Amino acid sequence: MEIKEFHLYPAVILEYFRDNSDLFKPPLESRLVAEDYCRKISALAVHFCALMDSRVIGFLACYYNNFNTKTGFITSFSVLSEFQSKGIGRQLLDSCLYYGRKNGFQKLEFEVFYCNPALNFFLKSGFRALNKKGEFITLTMNL
Ligand SMILES: CC(C)(COP(=O)(O)OP(=O)(O)OC[C@H]1O[C@@H](n2cnc3c(N)ncnc32)[C@H](O)[C@@H]1OP(=O)(O)O)[C@@H](O)C(=O)NCCC(=O)NCCS
Repeated sequence: MEIKEFHLYPAVILEYFRDNSDLFKPPLESRLVAEDYCRKISALAVHFCALMDSRVIGFLACYYNNFNTKTGFITSFSVLSEFQSKGIGRQLLDSCLYYGRKNGFQKLEFEVFYCNPALNFFLKSGFRALNKKGEFITLTMNL
């Protein structure tokens, strides 16, 4: 398994989301028009992938494009169920933090569904809750 910054095309992102839709709560399709979302992620986000024999087993996409606020925003973060709790999520997040620091970003933000069991993962990883917007909690971290 390797973790690396690796650009994914929209069709590959869409396939990953469709094949693993059970990972996301609430389901991705109910929140966003998936095709448009994948095109946007592919065009604008930096991609960090966990790859095993060329298969994507974990994916973190982060918008590091607001150079005014110097704030990055994680738009998608997941590890396939069978590979969870093996430290892969931590390594993906570390790569994302490293990239942000190296490129002069000062903050990282993320929105998580308020009853997502992974909320603990983010709090343990150094994020703190900033506010609650509807069913989502905004998490923030200084880089
Ligand atoms: C969040 C996620 C990416 C973490 O990936 P992972 O590879 O399982 O994380 P790690 O193995 O690096 O875990 C790091 C730590 O967080 C804890 N942790 C991970 N997932 C957790 C969860 N769902 N609930 C509680 N704790 C969790 C682990 O126990 C571990 O703790 P430790 O370091 O004390 O042992 C993964 O759980 C996931 O894909 N969840 C579904 C998608 C999701 O909800 N994404 C976030 C919102 S979009």
